[in-house]
Amino acid sequence: MKMVIHSRLCTQLPVYHGIFMKHKKKSFSMFRGVYVQFRNFHSFKQKIQINGEALYPRWFSVAPMMGWTDNHYRTLARLMSKHAWLYTEMVVAETIVHQKDDLDRFLAFSVEQHPVVLQIGGSNLKNLAKAAELANFYSFDEINLNCGCPSDKVAGHGCFGASLMFNPKLVGDAMSTIAANSDIPVSVKCRIGVDYRDSYNELCDFISEVSSRSPTKHFIIHARKALLNGLSPAANRKVPPLKYEYYFALLRDFPELQFTLNGGITSIEQVKRLMQH
Ligand SMILES: Cc1cc2nc3c(=O)[nH]c(=O)nc-3n(C[C@H](O)[C@H](O)[C@H](O)COP(=O)(O)O)c2cc1C
Repeated sequence: MKMVIHSRLCTQLPVYHGIFMKHKKKSFSMFRGVYVQFRNFHSFKQKIQINGEALYPRWFSVAPMMGWTDNHYRTLARLMSKHAWLYTEMVVAETIVHQKDDLDRFLAFSVEQHPVVLQIGGSNLKNLAKAAELANFYSFDEINLNCGCPSDKVAGHGCFGASLMFNPKLVGDAMSTIAANSDIPVSVKCRIGVDYRDSYNELCDFISEVSSRSPTKHFIIHARKALLNGLSPAANRKVPPLKYEYYFALLRDFPELQFTLNGGITSIEQVKRLMQH
């Protein structure tokens, strides 16, 4: 797998779309679901080669958001920015496997949308292998495994989302399986910890185990821990405190890996301040 990495500090700034959410009568600020990268080996406009394709470096991405970052949304987002990397909504591996005759509905996107990252959910190795193989036909630019979702609906049913952080070996094997069944780079989105397992050392153990068991070189760090004690997904995006210091420590301690920062970033000014860190 070829993956050219030019920056290590990324912010996933979930973009709230006030204008697009009016029909749902919710208020969504422009800054939600975005990842940004800050390392300046390349100018913002200079394209990089990834798997033979010339793409803008991953300075800034729109994070995966269920119910939002669907095909239509991403088309709109691409009209707003040529540069942003766009994540799909999470698609469960079992959905891909069971809907294999209707996959366009879940995976198709237009060529103008590149770069697009497919986020998948699950931990059943057989299903992840098949899902990665099927998704391979759609020419995504990366496959990302969700290890950050705290929802009861998924986290409560076996290993899925944030609960996967309790089992780094399984995540390593899952990533190895996904990579073996696709031609594109793979990445993991995780929290800085889960429940009582929230020390920096435990986060390092997770990163070490996953990156040594698989070709995973890119981790998106949602800089809050997940609480699987019944706290709602929305509260899990606000209540656990942000610990950007974990993220910066990872940059220091794993110079060979790429890390994207996500969580609580609400303005370009904040991004600029973080770039000076
Ligand atoms: C409506 C909504 C849906 C989301 N769906 C997903 C998802 O499918 N996969 C995922 O990894 N994160 C999902 N997230 C989490 C965001 O990607 C992001 O990690 C989170 O909002 C934290 O960033 P913030 O503090 O800037 O909001 C979702 C967030 C929102 C608001």
